[in-house]
Amino acid sequence: MNDISLPQREAPDSLMLYGFWYRALPSKQVSGTRLQKAMLLETPLAIGRDRQGRPFALHDACPHRGMPLSHGLFDGQQVECSYHGWRFDGHTGQCQLIPSLTADQKLKIDRIYAGSYACEEHDDFIWVFIPEPAAPGAGFTKAAEPPMPAPRVPTFSEKYKLAYLTAELPCTVDHGIIGLMDPAHGPFVHQAWWWRSRDSIHEKHKNFEPIPNGFRMSAHTPSSNSAPYKLLRLYADAESITTTIDFVLPNLRLETIRAGKYWFSSLTTVTPITRSHCRIDVVAAWNLFRWVPLGPKLLKFVFAKFVEQDRQTMEKQSEGLKHNPHLMLIDDADRPAKWYFGLKAAYLEARKTGDEMKHPLAGPVTLKWRS
Ligand code: FES
Ligand SMILES: [Fe+2]
Repeated sequence: MNDISLPQREAPDSLMLYGFWYRALPSKQVSGTRLQKAMLLETPLAIGRDRQGRPFALHDACPHRGMPLSHGLFDGQQVECSYHGWRFDGHTGQCQLIPSLTADQKLKIDRIYAGSYACEEHDDFIWVFIPEPAAPGAGFTKAAEPPMPAPRVPTFSEKYKLAYLTAELPCTVDHGIIGLMDPAHGPFVHQAWWWRSRDSIHEKHKNFEPIPNGFRMSAHTPSSNSAPYKLLRLYADAESITTTIDFVLPNLRLETIRAGKYWFSSLTTVTPITRSHCRIDVVAAWNLFRWVPLGPKLLKFVFAKFVEQDRQTMEKQSEGLKHNPHLMLIDDADRPAKWYFGLKAAYLEARKTGDEMKHPLAGPVTLKWRS
């Protein structure tokens, strides 16, 4: 048996994956006729809402001479560039007017487009589909239809509560993601007197299985020192509580905890803003505590504390990463991180060759570690 696994040298790259939906902004940041700036995968966006409240996302650079459209005027339907007054439809980006044209100049303005992106709004966030970048020099046309709808937080009853947290992380998306799936930092980073101490560290065995574009920590009783588990114990038998955690490319972590008719779920994303900067957004939904006034606040407090601990840790880590050190990932605690890099590489390879994606997990695996 290979009880001792040799540490493997593996340096995370920061390649950003195109062709997926990403969370752009919390819904409430976009209101009225103001255009809000956002950035996804180094793509600048101007995000607004039409008169019916439907969100749209335009490339934040006018196709004429590059003025950010977010500096322009928006009337609830069309965006007017602040430089020469060209007007574009908010949703399609199609040019509607070039004020400098004279009556006998026959430029076909309906062939001109400001870049536009598919946009959906779910669970208090505006999501934008970022396609593969066009060939250099190619102008924009009508936005392509995304091949799948934007991801959603799983829910299991008609009535539920929703809350989100967001934090910027000064590191590449890869470090943000592997920080999220790393079990070994818990006892050292997430200590709190009301939670756990580093002495509560103990051996754990978890089963994993491959799922399309990702992997699943199979349904199991959550570890006794996990946050939602402690809260759920107030409602249900310890044995009836099960949790499933999925990671799915490009950046999704879904956690579902069920205990009889009670449930808690979350969809966490780590979104590349630039090559060196990312943002973590946690959206949680639950049907617990609906009659306990303190419940949601308590839950938000616990999660805010965890996310803040991670953020501070990654801020410190980024000092070390600046100098491009050699890194290593060890078995088994870092195996999920290795699978993440494996998935990413397999996805890119499949895209390049057109062949089916070769999944890095051949079948179910049990990993063990102390945390
Ligand atoms: S740069 Fe936008 S109209 Fe000229
Ligand atoms: Fe953490």
